[in-house]
Amino acid sequence: MGSSPLATRSISRRLARPFLLLTAALVLLILVQSSPLVSFALSHSSPHELARRSQILTKCAYTRAKPEILPHFHARTQSDRYAENTKPVLVRNATIWTAADGGNEVLTGDLLMHHGLIKAVGDVPLSLLQELELENMGLEVVDADGAWVTPGIVDLHSHIGVGSVPNLNGAHDTNSHKAPILPWLRSIDGLNTHDASYELAVAGGVTTAQILPGSANNIGGQAFIMKLRPTAERSPSSMLLEPPYTLNGTHFNHSLTPRWRHMKHACGENPSARYDITRLDSGWNFRAAYDHARKLRDAQDAFCTKAESGSWDDLAGKSFPEDLQWESLIDVLRGRVKLAVHCYEAVDLDGIVRLTNEFEFPVASFHHAGEAYLVPELLKKTWGGTPTIALFASNFRQKREAYRGSEFAPRVLSEHGINVVIKSDHPVVNSRYLLHEAAQAHYYGLDPALALLSVTYTPAMAMGMGHRIGMLKSGYDADVVIWSSHPLSLASTPTQVYIDGIPQLSQIDHYVPGKTTPPRTPNFDAEKTATVAYEGLPPLEPQSVKRVLFINVSGLYMRSGGSSGVVHVSKEAGAVGVENGRVACIGLCSDFAEGNVEIVDLEGGTIAPGLTNFGAPLGLVEINLEPSTNDGRVRNPLDGDLPPVLGGKVMRAQDGLMFGGRNLLLAYRGGVTTAITAPSGTFLRGISTAFSPGAAHARVENASILDDVALHVAVSMKASASVSTQIAALRNMLFGEGEDEVLRRVRKGETTLVVDVENADIMATLLRLKDEFESHSGRRLRLTFSGGTEAHLLAHEIAKAGVSVIVTQSKPFPKTWEQQRILAGPPITNESLVSVLLKAGVNVGIGVVQEYNARNTRFEVGWSFLTSNGAINHTTALALTTTNLERALGVQREMPQDLVAYRGGDVFEFEAKVVGVISESLRRTDLFV
Ligand SMILES: *[C@@H]1O[C@H](CO)[C@@H](O)[C@H](O)[C@H]1NC(C)=O
Ligand SMILES: *[C@@H]1O[C@H](CO)[C@@H](O)[C@H](O)[C@H]1NC(C)=O
Ligand SMILES: *[C@@H]1O[C@H](CO)[C@@H](O)[C@H](O)[C@H]1NC(C)=O
Ligand SMILES: *[C@@H]1O[C@H](CO)[C@@H](O)[C@H](O)[C@H]1NC(C)=O
Ligand SMILES: *[C@@H]1O[C@H](CO)[C@@H](O)[C@H](O)[C@H]1NC(C)=O
Ligand SMILES: *[C@@H]1O[C@H](CO)[C@@H](O)[C@H](O)[C@H]1NC(C)=O
Repeated sequence: MGSSPLATRSISRRLARPFLLLTAALVLLILVQSSPLVSFALSHSSPHELARRSQILTKCAYTRAKPEILPHFHARTQSDRYAENTKPVLVRNATIWTAADGGNEVLTGDLLMHHGLIKAVGDVPLSLLQELELENMGLEVVDADGAWVTPGIVDLHSHIGVGSVPNLNGAHDTNSHKAPILPWLRSIDGLNTHDASYELAVAGGVTTAQILPGSANNIGGQAFIMKLRPTAERSPSSMLLEPPYTLNGTHFNHSLTPRWRHMKHACGENPSARYDITRLDSGWNFRAAYDHARKLRDAQDAFCTKAESGSWDDLAGKSFPEDLQWESLIDVLRGRVKLAVHCYEAVDLDGIVRLTNEFEFPVASFHHAGEAYLVPELLKKTWGGTPTIALFASNFRQKREAYRGSEFAPRVLSEHGINVVIKSDHPVVNSRYLLHEAAQAHYYGLDPALALLSVTYTPAMAMGMGHRIGMLKSGYDADVVIWSSHPLSLASTPTQVYIDGIPQLSQIDHYVPGKTTPPRTPNFDAEKTATVAYEGLPPLEPQSVKRVLFINVSGLYMRSGGSSGVVHVSKEAGAVGVENGRVACIGLCSDFAEGNVEIVDLEGGTIAPGLTNFGAPLGLVEINLEPSTNDGRVRNPLDGDLPPVLGGKVMRAQDGLMFGGRNLLLAYRGGVTTAITAPSGTFLRGISTAFSPGAAHARVENASILDDVALHVAVSMKASASVSTQIAALRNMLFGEGEDEVLRRVRKGETTLVVDVENADIMATLLRLKDEFESHSGRRLRLTFSGGTEAHLLAHEIAKAGVSVIVTQSKPFPKTWEQQRILAGPPITNESLVSVLLKAGVNVGIGVVQEYNARNTRFEVGWSFLTSNGAINHTTALALTTTNLERALGVQREMPQDLVAYRGGDVFEFEAKVVGVISESLRRTDLFV
């Protein structure tokens, strides 16, 4: 009624005038937008109808609009994320890597933040400071003392908040498991604001992350960009960075310029495994979904063409074709979504590239993309332009489609002119250490500017946020990190992090600054070339030689005698001659140089004891998620009767060993000369074995260094049996009359019992059990804790009981409830788990549990060393992964004097490359040059 002409006449003069003006304006608008050839009767167009038409035309214009940076965006005076009462901050005397100029701009000077924005970089004009004085907001002045400053780290691929920790059944919100195609779901709807990871990520300098749905679905849903700081509102929504207007539904102001939207797609193994489908089904799932979206898009376009040509009679009674479930996928087709596609292999990348050309939509980034570096020309065929490639630095081989992943991929792709991002996939890689991932890419040859860009401006661009984050420039968001050392050096750690201009860390006292220059990284040209030539699987077998003269050696570290001996430092520089795996001369070695000898220049590098890996299933696991490539898991006696044929025997890792695997050989090439591996399993795992990763097979002389090392048991709150059941079973094993020889040896105090335990309360129970056993039997129980995340809470009690701890997460992460009381380490706490235990007098070893990461043992230990503020010295650091570790496992014999030659630097530096292993056990020297 209200819209009838009658009603129009009845409104008062006072109201009628503006109303008529509005009507006239709308008519004008329609006339202007209509073809002049088309005539239509004004009398048919009620104000309501006109409003409807105007709305339709606005919406049609919106469907064609592209997200763009508003003019004068950088002239904004306050951030939309500004938090009231944030004080302005002036960082003085900094070395500022701005990310500008292709990552090559470094300014020495100051940086001013105010109202959530960067106001000036390099030179801060006096006038700005004077203005601030007038505002009287209390300028905070921070002296960086020359330290490196970068933009906040940007993580293009995170599940922080949706795959939250501690991992609990009540918060599994990474994926829906309802169907493979779910473009209408949104990660924001599952975002847990209590994830313990936020604080940790921020402590690593991460300020912004794209929260992607998981990869269980082909189309898992929409992603959202978040700043990781706590907000006053404490809601997921208040953490969002420039969310699309569709966040609140489809009834928003369509005159606004669209903002970027974000979505996740996934192909390959993950959707196949979750839905019991194949790659063939995935391919069709995508095509069917896009076909449906395309039909809707075409219907919208046809509707709009009619509206815009004024064919309103055709549209009478019809509304704009919409479908809430499909509108986001239509936006993909309209080029308004930054699509993140999880794909590994050439076959998957090819399928998506074909899909983009069939349906004509762009892809912002391919993620994981393990084989992207093998198919650069294919990537360039993607519709709408080559996507950015988002990679891990070294997390490969855990599943078949990741088997050919390479540490050289970032470099290879960049050499093809393709943008590279390093991402965390948090919690797969703890995003706190995302910069460390980029530093590894740099180590393996990625240009330093590109390495820093790979976690700042490049991901910011790939998510459509390059106008406000990822760069230090006036008008950008005030997300800034001050680092303890050059950001690409090993263990560089933030000393302060600002998000929206708000400081996130309470200052640490006396932080020892590290190296201020970027590491001079080794030459990996030959390895890179071979990796591409062999499609990701270059031969890794070492070349053995009898006599080698290492020249230009700056230091020689060796084990001193005795199984419990610490690492001895020999300061002799010069040459070191080796023969049959033993050091034959130190110093000038002029006699040794005569005759048939290989000469290897270490360029000032060092020779140090080979490292020992414990914790990873080296030799038992090749492709973690492919059971047919692995030894398998031993059966847990608490889960049911073991077959009588086993006769109550405990499993021995040695019986399942496999040699020549890629993780094993890469660890060897990373300086690991001894692997100590226990069988995989829960509760009663079995007996570990020590062996040489460089041996070709088990029958090579001295391939086995020690057949049986220790007895391994796991006690966990995650197990199917209760903790008290597990302890009761353990008590029974200790006090009972069990048959197995190894149990008898444990009871006699000859073999060490290593218990995997994370929780402090379980550790306390185990200490009491030890007391019980010792007072009952009068014999000493050799006990070691492995894992030990919460051991700092009992450091003195553990020391007093003479129990060793093998820390398997030297960079702690509260993945489960039973290990949530972490000691986070710098910059959150001054002390780390390792330093607290050492101070208490505990024998501490460092283990590395993931098989892909065994090759990085030296960087893991180096991290503890370099962030210890001087509490851990170089020899102690080496002991943590050699003699201390072996003592913790109860190794009583003298271990072989296996040495590793590092070219260009030291074991704990990104400058150094392992070029040889001098293996006393195998009586040979293996060269990797
Ligand atoms: C800046 O810091 C460096 C490094 O500590 C120092 O040598 C220099 O004197 C400082 N410059 C100013 C202007 O404070
Ligand atoms: C969504 O609605 C809320 C109010 O409920 C508003 O504060 C916010 O700005 C809206 N977001 C967008 C992206 O339009
Ligand atoms: C919608 O957005 C346009 C463009 O920013 C603006 O001019 C207009 O006032 C807005 N309309 C409403 C109702 O907010
Ligand atoms: C040793 O190597 C370093 C680094 O390459 C080099 O600077 C130095 O000149 C070399 N010394 C000798 C004696 O060759
Ligand atoms: C390293 O530290 C350990 C333990 O604090 C100490 O016993 C040892 O003497 C130190 N070594 C050197 C070379 O300073
Ligand atoms: C290698 O094996 C031989 C023969 O079993 C043994 O005598 C020797 O001690 C072993 N060497 C090392 C370094 O383990």
